[in-house]
Amino acid sequence: MPERTISTMFDEDHARLDALFTSFQTLKRTDFPEATRAFLAFTAGLRRHVVWEEEVLFPLWERASGMTGGGPTIVMRSEHREIGDWLDAIQRKIQAQNPDTEREEATLLDLLDRHNMSEEEVLYPEMDRMISPEEREAAFRAMEQIA
Ligand SMILES: [Fe+2]
Ligand SMILES: [Fe+2]
Repeated sequence: MPERTISTMFDEDHARLDALFTSFQTLKRTDFPEATRAFLAFTAGLRRHVVWEEEVLFPLWERASGMTGGGPTIVMRSEHREIGDWLDAIQRKIQAQNPDTEREEATLLDLLDRHNMSEEEVLYPEMDRMISPEEREAAFRAMEQIA
């Protein structure tokens, strides 16, 4: 079995979340309750993913790189806030049984695609290079506590 790394673990979670969001988009005009379930699983999963990054991964990256006062994690954290605002906007419409969320979906997906790509291409691979296998396992254990 291939070794579990930060990249494989977080790339897989991005793909899993993308699939849930696609289900929501595909189903919302034909099966609103099922689409709502997909959206709620997506939003809960994405919020947990963000907590894993902000409370475990980014602090580890900041320590390992020595960039505690700035750098890419500051940008990532502020993008998370922006992504969270669009999740809230879609969730408010869903609660009101309103499926007209195309504009919000497009903005969210655009933000999320760019954000995930910079994590997948830069941040996660750099972390796998910078931290030891022991630190990586400790990070996975800390994430399990959050889940
Ligand atoms: Fe992120
Ligand atoms: Fe991520």
